[in-house]
Amino acid sequence: MLVPTPGIASGDGFRLRARASGETGVPLLFLHGFPFDSSQWKPQLEALASVAAMLAPDARGLGESEGPRNPLHYSMAVYADDACAWLDALDREKAVVAGLSMGGYVALEFALRHPDRLAALILMDTHPFDDTPETIRSRRTSQQAVATGGVAVIVDDLLERVLGYRTRHLKPEIAADVRAMISRAPPHGVIGALEAMARRRDTSPYLGEIDVPVLVVAGEEDLLTPPAQARTWVPALPVAVFETIPGAGHLVTLEAPQRVNTVIQAFVEGLGQVI
Ligand code: MLT
Repeated sequence: MLVPTPGIASGDGFRLRARASGETGVPLLFLHGFPFDSSQWKPQLEALASVAAMLAPDARGLGESEGPRNPLHYSMAVYADDACAWLDALDREKAVVAGLSMGGYVALEFALRHPDRLAALILMDTHPFDDTPETIRSRRTSQQAVATGGVAVIVDDLLERVLGYRTRHLKPEIAADVRAMISRAPPHGVIGALEAMARRRDTSPYLGEIDVPVLVVAGEEDLLTPPAQARTWVPALPVAVFETIPGAGHLVTLEAPQRVNTVIQAFVEGLGQVI
């Protein structure tokens, strides 16, 4: 997709930016996880250019996108509307929407708010449930820590949780890239994303309404959203396929890019006339 170089303006006036690759084929929108940015999708943007017209926005407040200072101005609904603003700006009626982890929470909200703009859904290392009281407490602690000490204070803990055992021990260059990506996240965007996640709704009661094909992907070593958890909610989706990715944790797009690319390509090509 061709992205306007200055980016686009969100409905409430923030400048949003994105990476793009591929100009023909199925429109594919990639929504990144927390606290990442569009570089999370680099291996897909590089390898799938002949398969899809891809766009990977930076969520408001993260990557190169501007965002509000007030954390209450972040929510899954606002992120989903920002994603829809990209489709409007690029004159795309529908897209396949792919989200990883927090991006998956946004993708599910997009599916419910903008069903007419959705051709198919890819949910990676994510789930539809809202936060437990314990998770909300830990998000509040992280917000305090980032507000006083910056993003650096949460990097080590996050790295432990988002990367699989094999990546952490056998692929130090990937761990270094992910460390750098988290470290450059703007504090206000991180605090806002924590707020949006803490306040998000449980979308599991509505899974049966998502009447487009869905691909669900989970890293075999993902401790945050393990494959076993996915098996509890995937059957509620009317049309879904489920793939596990061997040797990868939560951040499958960077940890096992070849396998993930193969799975995405097969799904997108299988959509045939849906779009
Ligand atoms: C993510 O990778 O986006 C986060 O782990 C999601 C979360 O904290 O719930």
